Amino acid sequence: MITEFLSLLCLGLSLGFEDEKKNETLTKPYLSALPSPVVEQGRNVTLRCLGHRHNVTFMLGKLQDSGYRQEQRSAGYEAEFLLTHLEPKDAGTYFCAYKTMDSQEWSEASEHLQLEVTDDRKKRRAPPGGK
Ligand SMILES: *[C@@H]1O[C@H](CO)[C@@H](O)[C@H](O)[C@H]1NC(C)=O
Ligand SMILES: *[C@@H]1O[C@H](CO)[C@@H](O)[C@H](O)[C@H]1NC(C)=O
Ligand SMILES: *[C@@H]1O[C@H](CO)[C@@H](O)[C@H](O)[C@H]1NC(C)=O
Repeated sequence: MITEFLSLLCLGLSLGFEDEKKNETLTKPYLSALPSPVVEQGRNVTLRCLGHRHNVTFMLGKLQDSGYRQEQRSAGYEAEFLLTHLEPKDAGTYFCAYKTMDSQEWSEASEHLQLEVTDDRKKRRAPPGGK
């Protein structure tokens, strides 16, 4: 009896969740690194987030650092985040998302992008994450 009640409750909760999800129509953007996701120390890299709407706010986040957040308004479909003078600590896993003026929620996050910072002098790769 109790298990039946619980499973009905779970069903109700998951249905409610489904409904909420269905309302969300912002498909995930695409994140790429220019010219390459493997960057020599001291160089710059551009992380480009390509969305599906124009006139939106883009955000760039980092998996290893929940406090890391860059935001940029764009009239177009994409935003470019320039990271300059890369250090080993900048290596890691980045993702982006976007939101429109009237959506309070961020879109689904992009696929993760692995950024590597190489140390040219020592000719070896910095460990990912770099803390
Ligand atoms: C869900 O979508 C409807 C129709 O587009 C909209 O009126 C409503 O505000 C949305 N609800 C949420 C929670 O975004
Ligand atoms: C990196 O970006 C900065 C700031 O835009 C610029 O001054 C510098 O010349 C760039 N360095 C390289 C190696 O492109
Ligand atoms: C972009 O958003 C701004 C601020 O909400 C609005 O005033 C403007 O009309 C929008 N532009 C387009 C092309 O939708």
